This record gives sequence, structure tokens and C-alpha cells, in this order.
Amino acid sequence: MLGNRSPRDWLASLPDSRICSLRWQSILRYAAVAFVVSITLSGIFLFRRPEGFLRQSGSHYFEYFWNQTAADHPIDQLISDAHTFHENLLTQRSLDLPTAAARYRDRRGRHPPPGFDAWFKYAAEHDAIIVESFFDRIYADVAPFWGLDPRTTAERAASWDYVVRVRNGVANGTGDTSGKVPWLQLWTSLVGEAAPWLPDVDMPINYMDESRLIVPWEDVMSLVEKEQKSQALKPAEEVITKYSGLAQVDADIAAKGDGVEPYKPKWLGGNYWELTQAACPPDSPSRNATPIQNFEELPVFPDSNPEYSYKGYVRNFTAAMNPCTQPHLRGLHGTFIEPLTMATSKELIPLFGGCKLAVNNEILIPGAMYLTDDPFYSGGNTHGPPWKQKIDGVIWRGVASGGRNKKENWVHFQRHRLIEMLNGTTVSGMEENSSRAMTFEMPPVEKYDFPRRREGTIGTWLEEHSDAGFVNFLCFPADNCAYVEPYLSRVESVPMMEQYKYKFMPDVDGNSFSARFRGFLLSTSLPLKATVYAEWHDDRLVPWLHFAPMDNTFQDLYAILDYFTRDKKGDKSAQFIAEEGRSWGAKVLRREDMLLYVWRLLLEFARVCDEKRDMLGYIDDLRSA
Ligand SMILES: *[C@@H]1O[C@H](CO)[C@@H](O)[C@H](O)[C@H]1NC(C)=O
Ligand SMILES: *[C@@H]1O[C@H](CO)[C@@H](O)[C@H](O)[C@H]1NC(C)=O
Ligand SMILES: *[C@@H]1O[C@H](CO)[C@@H](O)[C@H](O)[C@H]1NC(C)=O
Ligand SMILES: *[C@@H]1O[C@H](CO)[C@@H](O)[C@H](O)[C@H]1NC(C)=O
Ligand SMILES: *[C@@H]1O[C@H](CO)[C@@H](O)[C@H](O)[C@H]1NC(C)=O
Repeated sequence: MLGNRSPRDWLASLPDSRICSLRWQSILRYAAVAFVVSITLSGIFLFRRPEGFLRQSGSHYFEYFWNQTAADHPIDQLISDAHTFHENLLTQRSLDLPTAAARYRDRRGRHPPPGFDAWFKYAAEHDAIIVESFFDRIYADVAPFWGLDPRTTAERAASWDYVVRVRNGVANGTGDTSGKVPWLQLWTSLVGEAAPWLPDVDMPINYMDESRLIVPWEDVMSLVEKEQKSQALKPAEEVITKYSGLAQVDADIAAKGDGVEPYKPKWLGGNYWELTQAACPPDSPSRNATPIQNFEELPVFPDSNPEYSYKGYVRNFTAAMNPCTQPHLRGLHGTFIEPLTMATSKELIPLFGGCKLAVNNEILIPGAMYLTDDPFYSGGNTHGPPWKQKIDGVIWRGVASGGRNKKENWVHFQRHRLIEMLNGTTVSGMEENSSRAMTFEMPPVEKYDFPRRREGTIGTWLEEHSDAGFVNFLCFPADNCAYVEPYLSRVESVPMMEQYKYKFMPDVDGNSFSARFRGFLLSTSLPLKATVYAEWHDDRLVPWLHFAPMDNTFQDLYAILDYFTRDKKGDKSAQFIAEEGRSWGAKVLRREDMLLYVWRLLLEFARVCDEKRDMLGYIDDLRSA
């Protein structure tokens, strides 16, 4: 079929073959059909044949695609590695309760919590893909509470302002939400689905966009050390299989009468970067990086090659979120510049929320906005047209959130940077005059070397292929937007389902995480994602397989877009990731999966709040063995 040509030649010839011979057309058509068939088959068989299905499939496209000799771009390597990593993960899938329980003991050093059997049964009945490492986040979040007194944690959780309360198998959201977003209701109805199988437990929730707990590193370490010391697989005869319940906690709170105030730690305002520094390890670069005094100075970009990246592209997405290793983020992300609201504590209290920084101590649950059917976030039931019918370009719409942007600091905000970077007029001007823009510098050609960069045609490309802008500047003060108006203009909003007609969808943080990410993953478009915010789903998504990761500086943005749009191979790669993300998301980001995550988390949280926590466990599988 390929004659004497190597796959590398074959791929290399694609971008230039403007005049396709019939033979080439038929090859391309064959490749396209093979691609579609293999995508379909991989969806059907991937989970029955977790080991290397794609590589064994005989699909010519994938043989070429994964052939190392055709991989002449670092992103080829990253995609291939991501694929292998994910295949290995899938071999860890637990298909029955004894296996799941054994893997739990292996990874967590304890017996699973009581109620693990009902949890697994629901998972099995709903075809959930259970890989123990998908739940690592829960254990990282709950660990420090093993260092606190269980009774105190239980009382603080019960008396918070907004609580999803489970008693006798029924969930009830308590707290005054009038005039507020319906998060309490959304989370209560999710927990309600698991409530019949849950012990008494309280889930106190953060009602602010911003994450709030930032405990100094040394304090967290000493709490986590206590957790590690408390790990033990108790002999079956010592294990208690029933939670104590919260009747005593409720009675004690009731006895104190009506006027019981929820426990409130000391709330701090001030400089968020200083608090961040204290939560970073002593030997980390950010620990001694003093806060920026004058945000009117234009942002400075690092010229380092961070450990989390490979030849300029993010490899480890979790590490790329960490502000402790990236002192420059103090000048490149609104969270560290001027958050809209700030009420932060250095004390560890139980608080659940949809996202947090690597240095925060909230307990993560799926963002409430992932639980709505609001098409504003998800696009509703539409996921976009097939790849081939999409507009070859980038789209972004949103508001200029990220913190309080004003004349003295706006050039440091991540969304402003994204919009300027996607503005063809701005970029053409920079290329003509070798100048910088307000919010960014042109990435150095030594680091990102590709024809459009060398020829100075990124701007021209953007003029034709990018449609990005703010629908609201959210200026401060609100009636004076003069400081951004020379650089940006307001644009009409575009409904999510229209946005899905474009191939590329950048997604960056606002005041906190971007609640559109799940919708983007489930769409037929390709999300380009940068964030400093951790979320519940991080351990089940693989960068370069389910989405394209971006550095928080966005210095890799043009090179990533160039890779995906320079030739047929890039386009196939983009389509591949878009489709993989969509089909994988449909398996592991469902409401059922969010329920299972929260369910497992509440079993753990109820245990850590229980005075008999060291003895509590699920051991039925050991007895029958
Ligand atoms: C991969 O490429 C090399 C060199 O071009 C070639 O010898 C080999 O047969 C290719 N393998 C596959 C599976 O296409
Ligand atoms: C939920 O809590 C509120 C306030 O505590 C209470 O008035 C209401 O009866 C509870 N609802 C249920 C179903 O338990
Ligand atoms: C990614 O980095 C984190 C630390 O930030 C580390 O714990 C994790 O093991 C790394 N993941 C991989 C796949 O290397
Ligand atoms: C380039 O710089 C010159 C001189 O400062 C200026 O007049 C011109 O408008 C600039 N070009 C663009 C496209 O920004
Ligand atoms: C793009 O940049 C130009 C100035 O370079 C500006 O006038 C225009 O408003 C910007 N467009 C958007 C959508 O922000």
C-alpha cells in the first residue's frame, strides 16, 4: 500500500501534497476509515482487552502513528507515552469486590471503611471503572484529619453554616442559601442518592469561589505523619464494622442550646502569596520568593525548563499546577494578585469544595456546576459536530474574571493574557515590531522553533483562525474600563453548543477553576487546558490522551496550536485526543462516577470523625476467604 515509502516519509509528505493524486486520495481515505473504525473499536473493546488493544488492532493508522520513527515532534512522544500510561492504568481495574478490597489494603495500609461492599456493588451495577489510584485525591485530602481529634472534627463539621447532613440514611442540606447559587441543593441531591447506604456524616461546604484553607507546610506534615503512624491492618477479630454514628455529637450540640455559633477559625486577609509561601516546602523555590510590590510593571516570564515538562511541553499536569515550584506564578495568576474575596485560614478545619490549589487543605468534591444541567456550562446535550465538520480554529468566550482586575494590575491576569495571545491584530503588531504585548512576551524561538514563529506569521494565522474575547471586562471600578479598552474589545457571547463547532477550546481559570472543563472533555472538540486548581477527577484523566495540557504561563500555546494545525498528522492527533477524551469522559466523568467519588469520600470522612476510627473497617471478604 505504501510502496517503498517509510511511514515517516508518508507522514512528511502529507502537508505538501496539495495536488493529491487519486492514489493518495485513496490512501488518505483508507487512513481516515481505518481511523474511524479503530476509534469505534477502541471504544468497544478497550476495556475488555486493556493490554495494547490499539497497537494490536492492525489499524494501519495507529501502526504509523505509534511508530517511533514517525514521531518527530516532542508531542508525538507525549501522546504515545500517555497512551501507554493509560493502558497500564487500565490493567489495574478491579472487577470484583475481593480484588477491590485487596488493592485498597495494598495502597492505603488500612482495611476499607465499613460500607465498602455496598459502594462496590453500586459501582459494579453501574459499570463504573474502578481503579484504586483514581481515588488517591481522597486520601491526600483526608490524611491530615487523622492527626486531629475525631470528636472536634465531627463537631466543627456539624455546626458549619452550610452542611449536607446525613442522618438515618437521609440527606438534608442545611444553611440559608436565599440569594445564593444553588450549590447546597445540587450537592445534597447527589449525596441523597447514596444516603441509604451512608453512615451519619456531615459535609460542611465552602460557599465561596475561592479556596480558603492554607495551612503552613510544617503543620500539615506533622498531621500527615500522625496519619502514617496510624495506618494498620488490624486483625479481623479486633475490627469494628459499624460506625458509632453522630447521635452523641448532635445531642451535645443541642444541649448547648440555640445560640451555638459554628466554629470559625481566624480569617485572614492580606497577601495571598505570603500565605502560599508558608504552605510550600522549605526547600522549594517559592518559599523565599518575595511578593511583587508593584503590579504596574509588566509580567516577567521564566526561561527555565521545568522538571514537569518535556522539551517545552507539559508532561506532568499535576506538577505543572504547583505554585511552590513556580515563583513566577505570583505575577501570572489572579489568585496570587488580587482575589475578589479573601477569607483564609491557616488552621485546618473540615471544609469541602470543588477545587483548590496544591497548597490548600479543603477536601475536594466534584464542583457543583458539574451537577447542573445548565447548558451555560455544559452545552446541554449537544457535544458538537464530528471533527471533519468543525471549523479549523480556536474559540474562547467568557468574562474577565480571575480576581479584581484594575488599572494597576490587569496585565498579570491569566484570562487577559489568553485573550491578548489569541488576538491576531495584537500578535501581528508584535511580530512586525519585535515588541512585547501588555500581558505577555513572544515565546523565545530557541525554545519553540517552528515555521510560523520564524516567519512571523502567527498573527496572520490567528487573524484567520482565532475568535476569542471577553463578553464583560469586569473592570474595577465598574464604570471605568479605559485601562483595557485600547487593547481589548467586548464581543458578543456565543452559546456553548456553537462553540463546539470549533476544533480547539482553550480553558483557563477564572476566580477559581473553570466549570466548563467537564463539558469540554465530553465534547467532540479538543480542550487546551491550563490551571492551578486541582479537582476531583485529576487522577482519572491523562494529559495528551484526554486533553492537551498547557503551561500556566501559556508560553507553549502557539507551539501546541502549530503542532495540531501544521499537517495531517497534527490534525489526526488533535482528533484522536478529542475523541479519546470524549469517550473516556463518558465512562468516568458521569454523574454515577461523581456519586461514587463522594460516597467513598464520605465513608472515609465518617471514619476519621469516629472515635473508634482505628478499629473501624470492612473485613467480610477476609472472613469468607
Ligand atoms: C516503523 O518505521 C520503521 C522505519 O521507517 C520501519 O522499518 C518499521 O517497519 C515501521 N513499523 C511499523 C509497524 O510500521
Ligand atoms: C432538614 O433540616 C431542616 C433544618 O434543620 C429541618 O427543618 C427539616 O425538617 C429537615 N428535613 C428533613 C427531610 O429531615
Ligand atoms: C507528577 O508530579 C507529582 C508531584 O507534583 C508526583 O507526585 C507524581 O508522581 C508525578 N506523576 C508522574 C506520572 O510522574
Ligand atoms: C510598530 O511600531 C511603530 C513605531 O512605534 C508604530 O507606529 C506601528 O504602529 C507599530 N506597528 C504595529 C502593527 O503595531
Ligand atoms: C485585538 O487587539 C486590538 C489591538 O491590538 C484591539 O483593538 C481589539 O479590540 C482586540 N480585540 C479583542 C476581541 O479584544
